[in-house]
Amino acid sequence: MTIRYDGQVAIVTGAGGGLGRSHAIALAARGAKVVVNDLGGSVDGSGGSSDAAKAVVAEIEAAGGEAMANGANVADYAQVEKMVAETMERWGRIDILVNNAGILRDKSFVKGSLDDFKLVVDVHLMGSVNCTKAVWDIMREQAYGRILVTTSSSGLYGNFGQANYGSAKMGVIGMMNTLVLEGAKYNIHVNALAPTAGTRMTEGLIQEDAFKLLTPETVTPAVLYMVSEGGPNRTILSAGAGGYAVAKIVETEGMWLPPEEQTPEGIAAHWDQINDFNTVRELKAGGEQTIKFVMAAAAGHGISAE
Ligand code: NAI
Repeated sequence: MTIRYDGQVAIVTGAGGGLGRSHAIALAARGAKVVVNDLGGSVDGSGGSSDAAKAVVAEIEAAGGEAMANGANVADYAQVEKMVAETMERWGRIDILVNNAGILRDKSFVKGSLDDFKLVVDVHLMGSVNCTKAVWDIMREQAYGRILVTTSSSGLYGNFGQANYGSAKMGVIGMMNTLVLEGAKYNIHVNALAPTAGTRMTEGLIQEDAFKLLTPETVTPAVLYMVSEGGPNRTILSAGAGGYAVAKIVETEGMWLPPEEQTPEGIAAHWDQINDFNTVRELKAGGEQTIKFVMAAAAGHGISAE
């Protein structure tokens, strides 16, 4: 069955170029009305012009789609609120939010400034928080919403020089995990994309032959699937060059140690079992961890844990 978004309204942030542009064009091609947001700055976040967003709107319109350009800075809540108000005024609903806008301020931790760190967190994490906050009530009232955050392998696994970026990119996963719980009653799904693509952000960092394979268009289907009506929830979908994989945060079953072994030496002595990845499980809420430990402790102390 072809996945389409007829009658739906989507906001794609940072859609003036790179991945966001590809997501916006594809959503519009499949029937969505699309807000093409972009501040139009450089990779490090300096400067700004709405030309990039306007050019993507022109492309969408030329292909017979419907779109409007927006120049809001996602890090500024007042501007985001205005973008959402304008969208509601024109199209009356918001079904899909793709949080994609981002910048880089790469520096090793020893050399990087706290100001750069805060700016990167402000754009990636607070930008996603701001946009999500501004559409949350609307989606609750509609009892429908599909929200996407853009994480990164740098956040999930680390990357030299990207402590600021990695922190922000894991922050959005933390937001996702809780919003999945709070949005469940309202048919709001929240998922995360971990892309790898040849864009101006990665130009010069990726070898030319690989760059050609890593087109944004190979990543976009992952977004289209995750924001569709029948799409998944609470999923981190990695995508690049036509490859798709799921990343998960898991925890080992672990073990309960009797009081005399609740010591660093006790942990060291049982490390193989505590760290046994054959027992890993995905926990669906923080409380599941507490329950696991309390049940094991109760059994260890010989008390019933009802
Ligand atoms: P890009 O630089 O081509 O696109 C980012 C867009 O966001 C730009 O058009 C920029 O003007 C816009 N933007 C920046 N700050 C903004 C703000 N405050 N408000 C509104 N718009 C703003 O880079 P690319 O590669 O397309 O990145 C898209 C997303 O994917 C980013 O979140 C990035 O961190 C993420 N990502 C990209 C990877 C890659 O391999 N290209 C890898 C992992 C994550």
